[in-house]
Amino acid sequence: MKGLILSGGAGTRLRPITHTSAKQLVPIANKPILFYGIEDMASAGISEIGIIIAPNTGDEIREAVGDGSRFGVEVTWILQDEPLGLAHTVLIARDFLGDDDFVMYLGDNMLEQGLTEFVAEFDKDRVESQSPKLGEARQPPAAQILLARVEDPRSFGVAEIGPHGEVVQLVEKPDNPPSDLALVGVYLFDRTINDAVAAIDPSPRGELEITDAIQWLVDNGHRVRHEVLSGWWIDTGKKDPLLDCNRLVLETVEPRMAGSVDAESRIEGRVIIEEGAEVVRSLVRGPAVIGAGTRVVDSYVGPYSSVGDNCELVESEIDHSVVMQESTIHGIPRIVESLIGRSVHIRRSDLKPRATRLMLGDHSNVDLE
Ligand code: G1P
Repeated sequence: MKGLILSGGAGTRLRPITHTSAKQLVPIANKPILFYGIEDMASAGISEIGIIIAPNTGDEIREAVGDGSRFGVEVTWILQDEPLGLAHTVLIARDFLGDDDFVMYLGDNMLEQGLTEFVAEFDKDRVESQSPKLGEARQPPAAQILLARVEDPRSFGVAEIGPHGEVVQLVEKPDNPPSDLALVGVYLFDRTINDAVAAIDPSPRGELEITDAIQWLVDNGHRVRHEVLSGWWIDTGKKDPLLDCNRLVLETVEPRMAGSVDAESRIEGRVIIEEGAEVVRSLVRGPAVIGAGTRVVDSYVGPYSSVGDNCELVESEIDHSVVMQESTIHGIPRIVESLIGRSVHIRRSDLKPRATRLMLGDHSNVDLE
């Protein structure tokens, strides 16, 4: 079994962060989203991973991941020149994939459950289907999809399941969803998918949709298994889901104290303080993580906050937020539900007239109190 991780895409819903950085490298609990996917694959015993990258963010992703050895995997880089769709990545990954089974994983998806069970179910079904011991041999599955019940499925692929548990129909972002079962961005395929991606036409948005490729499998008599997720699943491509994801992951981190905390500070709950971080006359109330080399002075860092490396918080209060590395926040009570990029500076100033002065990148969002 190989792995194919999709780490291209423009990340338009996370602008302006994604004007300068890949959405898959935005940190959750101070670790890039993409790394969780690679680690899940490694834990499921997948050691050969192809990573699809786009021209604008590919170098940054390659630099962050390296050769994969620190995850115990071997990475093959595959460049997708143009955003021609998820199914198009299977076409261009053909040399890497060969005729092997593979897990396809959208690099901005995060799931609580990990991949091990999901992969094992597929393997088991394939082996049992072909086992001569069975009285009635059934067709081995050509694919396995993972579904999650969501309140509003209109922004996802949606599956309709028949009375015998079979996948009947898949539709991409339907106005009238046939069910509340959204397609999670984790798929398992055998080599039949190569025929499917070669046979389908681009969708109205001009992309080869993986949803259409799976529908092709169904229409051509191949069996598609499905599993319904029990744990949480988040497509982190937008700010609020990303902050939700940060909250869920912070709830599971192991507390660790590698930095320094003075006698006038208090650390409460599940908190990680990384090497060289300093907490002075402050309250850090977990779950929270304070990155390496970061200074928190006369401040409050509240629940569900991830502060990246080499940041500075002075006379400020923050909670339910992600602050990326090298940013500074001075004199601001209080920041909530915010995603703050790299090297961002927010300060209270004494300049006259008293006013708000901004220099914001394109597609920034500011909610003033
Ligand atoms: C893609 C798929 C969609 C799936 C979603 C999961 O959508 O096309 O079927 O439900 O990922 O994250 P996209 O995020 O590319 O709009």
